Amino acid sequence: MIAHPTICPRPGVLDIAPYVGGESTAPGANRVIKLSSNENPFGPSPGVLDAYLAAAKGLALYPDGGHLALRRAIAGVHGLEAERIVCGAGSDELIALLCKAYAGAGDEVLYSRHGFLMYRLSALAAGATPVAAPERDLTADVDALIGALSERTRLVFLANPNNPTGTMVDEAALARLAGALPPRALLVLDAAYAEYVRTQGHDGGIALVRARDNVVMTRTFSKIHGLAALRLGWAYGPEHVIDVLNRVRGPFNVTATALAAGEAAIGDADYVEHCAVTNEVWRDWLAKEVSAAGFGVTPSHGNFILVETGARTAEVDAHLKSRGLIVRRVAGYGLPGHLRVSIGDEVGCRAVADALRSFGAGS
Ligand SMILES: Cc1ncc(COP(=O)(O)O)c(C=O)c1O
Repeated sequence: MIAHPTICPRPGVLDIAPYVGGESTAPGANRVIKLSSNENPFGPSPGVLDAYLAAAKGLALYPDGGHLALRRAIAGVHGLEAERIVCGAGSDELIALLCKAYAGAGDEVLYSRHGFLMYRLSALAAGATPVAAPERDLTADVDALIGALSERTRLVFLANPNNPTGTMVDEAALARLAGALPPRALLVLDAAYAEYVRTQGHDGGIALVRARDNVVMTRTFSKIHGLAALRLGWAYGPEHVIDVLNRVRGPFNVTATALAAGEAAIGDADYVEHCAVTNEVWRDWLAKEVSAAGFGVTPSHGNFILVETGARTAEVDAHLKSRGLIVRRVAGYGLPGHLRVSIGDEVGCRAVADALRSFGAGS
Protein backbone atom coordinates (compact mmCIF):
# COMPACT_ATOMS: atom_id res chain seq x y z
CA MET A 1 0.00 0.00 0.00
CA ILE A 2 1.24 3.50 -0.86
CA ALA A 3 -0.27 5.43 2.05
CA HIS A 4 0.41 9.13 2.60
CA PRO A 5 0.79 10.23 6.26
CA THR A 6 -1.80 13.02 6.09
CA ILE A 7 -3.64 13.01 2.79
CA CYS A 8 -6.06 10.11 3.03
CA PRO A 9 -9.23 9.05 1.25
CA ARG A 10 -12.50 8.41 3.10
CA PRO A 11 -12.60 5.37 5.43
CA GLY A 12 -13.14 2.18 3.46
CA VAL A 13 -11.31 3.21 0.30
CA LEU A 14 -7.98 1.69 1.34
CA ASP A 15 -9.78 -1.54 2.28
CA ILE A 16 -10.49 -2.06 -1.40
CA ALA A 17 -8.29 -4.61 -3.11
CA PRO A 18 -8.39 -3.29 -6.69
CA TYR A 19 -10.50 -5.48 -8.97
CA VAL A 20 -8.34 -7.78 -11.05
CA GLY A 21 -9.98 -8.77 -14.32
CA GLY A 22 -9.59 -12.15 -16.00
CA GLU A 23 -6.06 -12.86 -17.22
CA SER A 24 -5.39 -12.75 -20.95
CA THR A 25 -1.92 -14.19 -21.46
CA ALA A 26 -0.39 -17.64 -21.15
CA PRO A 27 3.38 -17.31 -21.61
CA GLY A 28 4.86 -20.05 -23.76
CA ALA A 29 1.58 -21.30 -25.22
CA ASN A 30 1.37 -20.96 -28.99
CA ARG A 31 -2.43 -20.61 -28.99
CA VAL A 32 -4.30 -18.65 -26.29
CA ILE A 33 -8.01 -19.06 -25.65
CA LYS A 34 -9.35 -16.57 -23.10
CA LEU A 35 -12.11 -18.07 -21.01
CA SER A 36 -11.65 -15.87 -17.96
CA SER A 37 -14.10 -12.97 -18.34
CA ASN A 38 -17.41 -14.44 -19.58
CA GLU A 39 -17.13 -12.67 -22.91
CA ASN A 40 -19.04 -13.71 -26.03
CA PRO A 41 -16.65 -15.91 -28.07
CA PHE A 42 -18.46 -14.91 -31.28
CA GLY A 43 -18.24 -11.14 -30.70
CA PRO A 44 -21.08 -8.76 -31.48
CA SER A 45 -23.77 -9.13 -34.15
CA PRO A 46 -22.28 -8.50 -37.63
CA GLY A 47 -24.12 -5.16 -38.13
CA VAL A 48 -22.61 -3.68 -34.99
CA LEU A 49 -19.20 -2.93 -36.44
CA ASP A 50 -20.72 -0.80 -39.22
CA ALA A 51 -22.71 1.22 -36.68
CA TYR A 52 -19.58 1.64 -34.56
CA LEU A 53 -17.46 2.78 -37.51
CA ALA A 54 -20.15 5.22 -38.69
CA ALA A 55 -20.30 6.74 -35.21
CA ALA A 56 -16.50 7.02 -35.19
CA LYS A 57 -16.80 9.67 -37.89
CA GLY A 58 -18.28 12.01 -35.29
CA LEU A 59 -15.51 11.72 -32.69
CA ALA A 60 -15.17 15.52 -32.39
CA LEU A 61 -18.71 15.83 -31.05
CA TYR A 62 -20.01 15.06 -27.56
CA PRO A 63 -22.41 12.11 -27.44
CA ASP A 64 -26.12 12.44 -26.69
CA GLY A 65 -26.01 12.79 -22.90
CA GLY A 66 -29.63 11.66 -22.68
CA HIS A 67 -28.97 8.35 -24.53
CA LEU A 68 -32.38 8.79 -26.12
CA ALA A 69 -32.07 6.62 -29.24
CA LEU A 70 -30.55 3.74 -27.29
CA ARG A 71 -33.12 3.99 -24.49
CA ARG A 72 -35.91 3.93 -27.07
CA ALA A 73 -34.36 0.91 -28.79
CA ILE A 74 -34.03 -0.98 -25.48
CA ALA A 75 -37.57 0.00 -24.50
CA GLY A 76 -38.89 -1.24 -27.85
CA VAL A 77 -37.19 -4.63 -27.59
CA HIS A 78 -38.15 -5.29 -23.97
CA GLY A 79 -41.54 -3.55 -23.92
CA LEU A 80 -40.42 -0.94 -21.37
CA GLU A 81 -40.89 2.79 -20.81
CA ALA A 82 -37.82 4.62 -22.17
CA GLU A 83 -38.07 7.22 -19.40
CA ARG A 84 -37.51 4.52 -16.79
CA ILE A 85 -34.17 3.48 -18.33
CA VAL A 86 -30.75 4.95 -17.67
CA CYS A 87 -27.53 3.93 -19.44
CA GLY A 88 -24.09 3.59 -17.92
CA ALA A 89 -20.48 2.86 -18.83
CA GLY A 90 -20.98 -0.82 -18.15
CA SER A 91 -23.31 -2.06 -15.46
CA ASP A 92 -20.28 -1.64 -13.18
CA GLU A 93 -20.83 2.10 -13.38
CA LEU A 94 -24.49 1.73 -12.47
CA ILE A 95 -23.60 -0.48 -9.49
CA ALA A 96 -21.08 2.13 -8.33
CA LEU A 97 -23.56 4.98 -8.84
CA LEU A 98 -26.25 3.17 -6.85
CA CYS A 99 -23.81 2.79 -3.96
CA LYS A 100 -22.69 6.40 -4.24
CA ALA A 101 -26.25 7.70 -4.28
CA TYR A 102 -27.88 5.47 -1.66
CA ALA A 103 -25.20 4.29 0.76
CA GLY A 104 -22.60 6.10 2.80
CA ALA A 105 -20.91 5.98 6.21
CA GLY A 106 -22.96 3.97 8.67
CA ASP A 107 -25.09 2.33 5.97
CA GLU A 108 -25.00 -1.32 4.97
CA VAL A 109 -24.87 -2.86 1.51
CA LEU A 110 -25.99 -6.49 1.52
CA TYR A 111 -25.22 -9.27 -0.96
CA SER A 112 -24.73 -13.01 -0.85
CA ARG A 113 -21.48 -14.71 0.12
CA HIS A 114 -20.32 -15.59 -3.41
CA GLY A 115 -21.94 -12.59 -5.07
CA PHE A 116 -20.31 -10.48 -7.78
CA LEU A 117 -17.21 -8.74 -6.35
CA MET A 118 -18.14 -5.22 -7.44
CA TYR A 119 -20.91 -5.04 -4.81
CA ARG A 120 -18.39 -5.14 -1.99
CA LEU A 121 -15.88 -2.87 -3.76
CA SER A 122 -18.50 -0.26 -4.69
CA ALA A 123 -19.93 -0.28 -1.16
CA LEU A 124 -16.47 0.35 0.29
CA ALA A 125 -15.78 3.09 -2.26
CA ALA A 126 -18.98 4.80 -1.14
CA GLY A 127 -17.90 4.60 2.53
CA ALA A 128 -20.64 2.08 3.37
CA THR A 129 -20.29 -1.24 5.19
CA PRO A 130 -20.46 -4.37 3.01
CA VAL A 131 -22.40 -7.27 4.55
CA ALA A 132 -22.34 -10.79 3.08
CA ALA A 133 -25.14 -13.28 3.84
CA PRO A 134 -24.39 -17.03 3.73
CA GLU A 135 -25.45 -19.10 0.72
CA ARG A 136 -26.84 -22.61 0.51
CA ASP A 137 -25.38 -25.01 -2.09
CA LEU A 138 -23.56 -22.13 -3.80
CA THR A 139 -26.92 -20.42 -4.32
CA ALA A 140 -28.16 -17.17 -2.79
CA ASP A 141 -30.33 -17.98 0.23
CA VAL A 142 -33.19 -15.50 0.36
CA ASP A 143 -33.97 -16.38 3.99
CA ALA A 144 -30.36 -15.68 4.96
CA LEU A 145 -30.47 -12.36 3.06
CA ILE A 146 -33.72 -11.44 4.83
CA GLY A 147 -32.15 -12.44 8.14
CA ALA A 148 -29.19 -10.14 7.46
CA LEU A 149 -31.35 -7.06 6.74
CA SER A 150 -31.13 -4.29 9.31
CA GLU A 151 -32.39 -0.75 9.74
CA ARG A 152 -29.06 0.31 8.25
CA THR A 153 -29.48 -1.69 5.02
CA ARG A 154 -29.77 0.66 2.05
CA LEU A 155 -29.02 -1.65 -0.87
CA VAL A 156 -29.34 -5.38 -1.51
CA PHE A 157 -27.52 -6.65 -4.59
CA LEU A 158 -28.43 -9.98 -6.14
CA ALA A 159 -27.08 -11.25 -9.45
CA ASN A 160 -29.52 -13.69 -11.04
CA PRO A 161 -27.88 -15.82 -12.42
CA ASN A 162 -24.94 -15.09 -10.16
CA ASN A 163 -21.33 -14.81 -11.24
CA PRO A 164 -19.23 -16.92 -10.51
CA THR A 165 -21.62 -19.68 -9.37
CA GLY A 166 -24.10 -19.57 -12.27
CA THR A 167 -26.97 -20.37 -9.90
CA MET A 168 -30.33 -18.58 -9.65
CA VAL A 169 -33.20 -17.98 -7.29
CA ASP A 170 -36.79 -18.12 -8.53
CA GLU A 171 -39.21 -15.24 -9.00
CA ALA A 172 -41.27 -16.07 -5.92
CA ALA A 173 -38.15 -15.88 -3.73
CA LEU A 174 -37.16 -12.55 -5.30
CA ALA A 175 -40.62 -11.15 -4.63
CA ARG A 176 -40.38 -12.36 -1.03
CA LEU A 177 -37.03 -10.61 -0.63
CA ALA A 178 -38.33 -7.36 -2.12
CA GLY A 179 -41.35 -7.53 0.18
CA ALA A 180 -39.16 -8.02 3.27
CA LEU A 181 -36.89 -5.00 2.72
CA PRO A 182 -36.97 -2.24 5.32
CA PRO A 183 -38.58 1.01 4.07
CA ARG A 184 -35.29 2.68 3.14
CA ALA A 185 -33.71 -0.20 1.22
CA LEU A 186 -33.58 -0.87 -2.52
CA LEU A 187 -33.17 -4.29 -4.17
CA VAL A 188 -30.83 -4.30 -7.16
CA LEU A 189 -31.38 -7.28 -9.45
CA ASP A 190 -28.26 -7.68 -11.52
CA ALA A 191 -29.39 -9.38 -14.71
CA ALA A 192 -26.03 -9.36 -16.53
CA TYR A 193 -26.60 -12.97 -17.69
CA ALA A 194 -30.40 -12.86 -18.10
CA GLU A 195 -30.30 -13.50 -21.85
CA TYR A 196 -28.57 -16.84 -21.29
CA VAL A 197 -31.36 -18.18 -19.05
CA ARG A 198 -33.44 -20.73 -20.96
CA THR A 199 -36.37 -20.88 -18.53
CA GLN A 200 -39.47 -19.97 -20.50
CA GLY A 201 -40.64 -16.41 -19.80
CA HIS A 202 -37.58 -15.35 -17.81
CA ASP A 203 -37.53 -11.54 -17.93
CA GLY A 204 -34.51 -10.72 -15.77
CA GLY A 205 -36.74 -9.12 -13.13
CA ILE A 206 -38.75 -6.70 -15.29
CA ALA A 207 -42.11 -7.80 -13.85
CA LEU A 208 -40.82 -7.34 -10.31
CA VAL A 209 -39.52 -3.84 -11.08
CA ARG A 210 -42.97 -3.02 -12.50
CA ALA A 211 -44.78 -4.38 -9.49
CA ARG A 212 -42.79 -2.55 -6.85
CA ASP A 213 -41.16 0.79 -6.10
CA ASN A 214 -38.10 -0.68 -4.34
CA VAL A 215 -36.55 -2.83 -7.09
CA VAL A 216 -34.20 -1.83 -9.90
CA MET A 217 -32.71 -4.14 -12.57
CA THR A 218 -29.29 -3.71 -14.21
CA ARG A 219 -28.31 -5.19 -17.59
CA THR A 220 -25.16 -5.23 -19.67
CA PHE A 221 -24.05 -5.22 -23.30
CA SER A 222 -20.77 -6.90 -22.27
CA LYS A 223 -21.96 -10.50 -22.27
CA ILE A 224 -24.41 -11.82 -24.88
CA HIS A 225 -24.16 -8.65 -26.98
CA GLY A 226 -20.37 -9.08 -27.23
CA LEU A 227 -19.50 -5.44 -26.49
CA ALA A 228 -17.37 -5.70 -23.33
CA ALA A 229 -14.70 -3.39 -24.75
CA LEU A 230 -17.15 -0.53 -25.22
CA ARG A 231 -18.43 -0.43 -21.62
CA LEU A 232 -22.20 -0.21 -21.89
CA GLY A 233 -24.97 -1.16 -19.50
CA TRP A 234 -28.43 -0.01 -18.54
CA ALA A 235 -30.84 0.00 -15.63
CA TYR A 236 -34.64 -0.17 -15.54
CA GLY A 237 -36.28 1.02 -12.38
CA PRO A 238 -38.88 3.12 -10.65
CA GLU A 239 -38.88 6.78 -11.71
CA HIS A 240 -37.48 7.94 -8.37
CA VAL A 241 -34.38 5.72 -8.79
CA ILE A 242 -33.83 6.69 -12.44
CA ASP A 243 -34.07 10.34 -11.42
CA VAL A 244 -31.38 9.82 -8.77
CA LEU A 245 -29.06 7.97 -11.17
CA ASN A 246 -29.44 10.74 -13.73
CA ARG A 247 -28.38 13.24 -11.07
CA VAL A 248 -25.24 11.42 -10.00
CA ARG A 249 -23.97 10.17 -13.35
CA GLY A 250 -21.60 12.16 -15.53
CA PRO A 251 -23.33 14.20 -18.24
CA PHE A 252 -21.62 12.19 -21.03
CA ASN A 253 -21.02 8.90 -19.23
CA VAL A 254 -21.56 6.78 -22.35
CA THR A 255 -19.54 7.30 -25.53
CA ALA A 256 -21.15 7.93 -28.92
CA THR A 257 -19.59 4.78 -30.36
CA ALA A 258 -21.00 2.68 -27.51
CA LEU A 259 -24.46 4.22 -27.95
CA ALA A 260 -24.45 3.48 -31.69
CA ALA A 261 -23.11 -0.06 -31.29
CA GLY A 262 -25.58 -0.78 -28.48
CA GLU A 263 -28.49 0.35 -30.62
CA ALA A 264 -27.44 -1.98 -33.44
CA ALA A 265 -26.81 -4.87 -31.03
CA ILE A 266 -30.12 -4.68 -29.19
CA GLY A 267 -31.96 -4.62 -32.50
CA ASP A 268 -30.59 -8.02 -33.57
CA ALA A 269 -32.81 -10.35 -31.56
CA ASP A 270 -32.00 -13.32 -33.83
CA TYR A 271 -28.32 -13.01 -33.03
CA VAL A 272 -29.02 -12.87 -29.29
CA GLU A 273 -31.16 -16.01 -29.54
CA HIS A 274 -28.50 -17.76 -31.64
CA CYS A 275 -25.81 -16.99 -29.04
CA ALA A 276 -28.06 -18.13 -26.18
CA VAL A 277 -28.86 -21.44 -27.88
CA THR A 278 -25.24 -22.08 -28.83
CA ASN A 279 -24.14 -21.27 -25.30
CA GLU A 280 -26.66 -23.72 -23.86
CA VAL A 281 -25.51 -26.52 -26.16
CA TRP A 282 -21.81 -26.10 -25.36
CA ARG A 283 -22.36 -25.30 -21.67
CA ASP A 284 -24.27 -28.53 -21.19
CA TRP A 285 -21.78 -30.49 -23.27
CA LEU A 286 -18.82 -29.07 -21.34
CA ALA A 287 -20.47 -29.65 -17.96
CA LYS A 288 -20.94 -33.33 -18.82
CA GLU A 289 -17.37 -33.68 -20.09
CA VAL A 290 -15.94 -31.99 -17.02
CA SER A 291 -17.91 -34.27 -14.71
CA ALA A 292 -16.80 -37.28 -16.73
CA ALA A 293 -13.21 -36.11 -16.20
CA GLY A 294 -13.84 -36.35 -12.45
CA PHE A 295 -14.53 -32.75 -11.44
CA GLY A 296 -17.65 -31.40 -9.74
CA VAL A 297 -19.65 -28.84 -11.74
CA THR A 298 -22.27 -26.47 -10.39
CA PRO A 299 -25.29 -26.39 -12.76
CA SER A 300 -25.10 -22.98 -14.45
CA HIS A 301 -27.62 -20.66 -16.10
CA GLY A 302 -24.88 -18.32 -17.38
CA ASN A 303 -22.19 -18.41 -20.07
CA PHE A 304 -19.69 -20.06 -17.75
CA ILE A 305 -19.39 -23.06 -15.44
CA LEU A 306 -17.90 -23.33 -11.99
CA VAL A 307 -15.61 -26.33 -11.73
CA GLU A 308 -14.67 -27.86 -8.41
CA THR A 309 -10.94 -28.44 -8.40
CA GLY A 310 -10.38 -28.64 -4.62
CA ALA A 311 -6.81 -28.87 -3.36
CA ARG A 312 -5.56 -29.28 -6.97
CA THR A 313 -6.83 -25.89 -8.13
CA ALA A 314 -3.40 -24.35 -8.75
CA GLU A 315 -2.21 -27.46 -10.59
CA VAL A 316 -5.32 -27.66 -12.76
CA ASP A 317 -5.04 -23.95 -13.55
CA ALA A 318 -1.35 -24.37 -14.49
CA HIS A 319 -2.17 -27.40 -16.65
CA LEU A 320 -4.85 -25.46 -18.52
CA LYS A 321 -2.54 -22.49 -18.91
CA SER A 322 0.23 -24.71 -20.32
CA ARG A 323 -2.27 -25.50 -23.10
CA GLY A 324 -3.07 -21.81 -23.62
CA LEU A 325 -6.39 -22.03 -21.80
CA ILE A 326 -6.94 -19.07 -19.50
CA VAL A 327 -9.68 -19.55 -16.93
CA ARG A 328 -10.59 -17.64 -13.79
CA ARG A 329 -9.35 -18.33 -10.25
CA VAL A 330 -12.16 -17.38 -7.88
CA ALA A 331 -10.51 -17.35 -4.45
CA GLY A 332 -11.48 -13.66 -4.27
CA TYR A 333 -15.10 -14.83 -4.31
CA GLY A 334 -14.50 -17.15 -1.35
CA LEU A 335 -14.06 -20.15 -3.67
CA PRO A 336 -10.35 -21.10 -3.51
CA GLY A 337 -11.10 -24.69 -4.60
CA HIS A 338 -12.91 -23.77 -7.81
CA LEU A 339 -12.16 -22.44 -11.29
CA ARG A 340 -14.66 -20.53 -13.40
CA VAL A 341 -14.57 -21.42 -17.07
CA SER A 342 -16.35 -19.24 -19.61
CA ILE A 343 -18.16 -21.07 -22.40
CA GLY A 344 -16.12 -20.50 -25.51
CA ASP A 345 -16.77 -21.67 -29.05
CA GLU A 346 -16.55 -25.36 -30.00
CA VAL A 347 -12.76 -25.24 -30.23
CA GLY A 348 -12.47 -23.66 -26.79
CA CYS A 349 -14.89 -26.08 -25.14
CA ARG A 350 -13.25 -29.13 -26.69
CA ALA A 351 -9.82 -27.88 -25.65
CA VAL A 352 -10.94 -27.47 -22.02
CA ALA A 353 -12.54 -30.93 -22.00
CA ASP A 354 -9.37 -32.52 -23.46
CA ALA A 355 -7.15 -30.71 -20.99
CA LEU A 356 -9.22 -31.71 -17.96
CA ARG A 357 -9.42 -35.31 -19.14
CA SER A 358 -5.67 -35.45 -19.60
CA PHE A 359 -5.14 -33.87 -16.18
CA GLY A 360 -7.46 -36.43 -14.61
CA ALA A 361 -5.61 -39.26 -16.35
CA GLY A 362 -2.24 -37.93 -15.26
CA SER A 363 -3.12 -37.42 -11.56
C1 LIG B 1 -22.92 -10.30 -12.30
C2 LIG B 1 -22.22 -9.21 -13.05
N1 LIG B 1 -22.68 -7.97 -12.97
C3 LIG B 1 -22.08 -6.96 -13.62
C4 LIG B 1 -20.97 -7.17 -14.38
C5 LIG B 1 -20.30 -5.98 -15.01
O1 LIG B 1 -20.54 -5.92 -16.33
P1 LIG B 1 -20.19 -4.64 -17.19
O2 LIG B 1 -19.20 -5.07 -18.19
O3 LIG B 1 -21.51 -4.23 -17.77
O4 LIG B 1 -19.66 -3.56 -16.28
C6 LIG B 1 -20.44 -8.44 -14.51
C7 LIG B 1 -19.21 -8.68 -15.28
O5 LIG B 1 -18.59 -9.67 -15.26
C8 LIG B 1 -21.08 -9.49 -13.81
O6 LIG B 1 -20.60 -10.74 -13.87
